[in-house]
Amino acid sequence: MRYQEDTIICGDTFELLQQVEDESIDLIVCDGPYGVTQYEWDKQPSIQAYNLRLIELFSTKLKEGGALYLFGKPDCIDFIDYRPYLNLRSRIIWYQPSRLAQGRLNYTNNHDIICYFIKGKRPRCFHLDDIRVAQLVELEHRKRCERVPSVQKGPYGKTKFNEKGKNPGDVWGDIKQLTYRSKELMSREALHTIQKPERLIERLVLASSSKGDLVLDPFAGVGTCPAVCKRLGRRFLAFEQNADFVQLGTQRLEAIEVLHEDD
Ligand SMILES: C[S@@+](CC[C@H](N)C(=O)[O-])C[C@H]1O[C@@H](n2cnc3c(N)ncnc32)[C@H](O)[C@@H]1O
Repeated sequence: MRYQEDTIICGDTFELLQQVEDESIDLIVCDGPYGVTQYEWDKQPSIQAYNLRLIELFSTKLKEGGALYLFGKPDCIDFIDYRPYLNLRSRIIWYQPSRLAQGRLNYTNNHDIICYFIKGKRPRCFHLDDIRVAQLVELEHRKRCERVPSVQKGPYGKTKFNEKGKNPGDVWGDIKQLTYRSKELMSREALHTIQKPERLIERLVLASSSKGDLVLDPFAGVGTCPAVCKRLGRRFLAFEQNADFVQLGTQRLEAIEVLHEDD
């Protein structure tokens, strides 16, 4: 059976995944349980064991070189051996300085992580030019640095300032979490279940897929990743068990006008 692409399908992701063709997916954006809230679906006895089960399942669905981005708390893949299935390339820190800092006995957690895995040794794509961010150092200062002999002779001596911007690195503090006032927010409940900002998902989709590629979102929520995919010309398969979220996500998709290159 083939699922209808480019719609959000209501159901349990573990059941729905069984019918997804092996080696058919270019990119998976997995923003599922974190194991921290009181929602039934988020209460996992071991979030690490849960994530390992997902990683194993996803590895069969990805094409060679395909990418998985797995969201979670800093310990979400601690002490599990994912290496038989996928290769971990980066642990991106999504830093949110505005998160309430109420800890008294330890350091308050103010970041999520996004684990970037690929299947095999080489990514199918990594479109760095599409996700470059502004250089923090000024151009003139950077150019002066490039003339310093110790820099020229060092391991990065041939690296030149790129006018288009730099690699965003693996600590992302430039994308804010949504608030009740964000125009993008689909519902108050969506904020509690951590609806993600489109800019965040957009960076992943732009880097690790090309136009026409098939993206899987197994925990679609209110449809952020599907919306981004539709806007950027990617095909998608999206699953979500909460029928109200499916409805909101579907309305969100309907409101997106796709611009064609000759428009
Ligand atoms: C963190 S939220 C995803 C938010 C989404 N990225 C967005 O921006 O709207 C996780 C979602 O996974 C859904 N979910 C949890 N377990 C599921 C399962 N087994 N099958 C399908 N959906 C599930 C929840 O209902 C929730 O909406």
